[in-house]
Amino acid sequence: MNIESNISLKPFNTFGFDYKVSKLIHLTSQDKSAVFFRSKSETDVNMFIIGGGSNLLFTDDFNGTILHPVFGGTEVVWNNDDKVIISVGSGIKWDDLVNWTVSQGLWGLENLSLIPGDVGASPVQNIGAYGVEVKDMIDKVETIRISDGQNISFSNEECGFRYRYSIFKGEEKGKYLVTRVHYRLSKKPSFNIEYGSLRDEIQKLGKISIHNIRDAVINIRRKKLPDPLIIGNAGSFFKNPVVNEALSSYLKKIHPDLPVYAEKNGMSKLAAGWLIEKCGWKGYRRGDAGVYDKQALILVNYGKASGSELNILAEDIRKSVAEKFSINLEREVETVTSI
Ligand code: EPU
Repeated sequence: MNIESNISLKPFNTFGFDYKVSKLIHLTSQDKSAVFFRSKSETDVNMFIIGGGSNLLFTDDFNGTILHPVFGGTEVVWNNDDKVIISVGSGIKWDDLVNWTVSQGLWGLENLSLIPGDVGASPVQNIGAYGVEVKDMIDKVETIRISDGQNISFSNEECGFRYRYSIFKGEEKGKYLVTRVHYRLSKKPSFNIEYGSLRDEIQKLGKISIHNIRDAVINIRRKKLPDPLIIGNAGSFFKNPVVNEALSSYLKKIHPDLPVYAEKNGMSKLAAGWLIEKCGWKGYRRGDAGVYDKQALILVNYGKASGSELNILAEDIRKSVAEKFSINLEREVETVTSI
């Protein structure tokens, strides 16, 4: 366990905000974390768990303790002729894991290439891209309960996964620290390449292979999405809204080019990026806070924007989409404040 005091959060949030945190604890092992949770003091009441910080909006200094799990290790825990289950430490960089599974010919995570953040965040927000959600590969999630330091394991079902959601982001928020995630992967080709231009991009590279799927996803992401190391951002700022059939067909009639994806139960998912672009925000800039010019769902910090400026811009965008389309965009990015 390594403790730092009054240090900058800049390396710990992909928006690149230079706020300070009173205490940052890097948790290196399950045992030490359990001891810490059993003996934590009153001053550790205001606690927040951080992974790669790729989905967070800090709007001020954090007056409290931030826990940063850095558990490592990847091991095979079960396998047969077709499938394998691997257990991965929550502190491992997500894309290092995907790079490894692809190099081993283990199918399942390749569409999720280049997503920023750590393994521990993958179940929390059920990361997804190019037609795949990580929930379909997660076997179980190992955690430590913060209230008493107990090891608690959650089966896939117990995680309550939905689109960009799990209980760790909802009713159990802040109660468990993810230590390891178990993924069930396929030794035999098993893929989904129907999203957008993915198939075409793969064809440019040659045959359908796990390596070409990863490379195609990387190519598409690099064209559309800003690299957080160059322009501060947290990926999609809002979720794609899921609306009922009546509203989606009404909007589709007025706007035939609106992208609509059918969901279960007659609901439809709409492209928030399209809605935001139609309200005229794409490429908009107010000081150093802006809307990315190649993808309107991404808010960016061109350098010196504050979290509050981004927050105000996001609220203005939400209001204008609500006025024009009667749709209330929900944030995917989490705003972090201390008491
Ligand atoms: N679109 C526009 N204008 C824009 C942006 C998008 O018209 O400015 C249209 C596109 O032309 C396309 C549709 O909206 O027809 C969807 O766009 P895109 O394929 O770029 O994906 P998205 O729905 O905006 C989602 C995820 C991304 C993920 C991509 C690819 C959410 C909130 N976002 O974005 O995830 O990479 O699909 O699968 O579901 C993230 O969560 O941080 C993230 C980047």
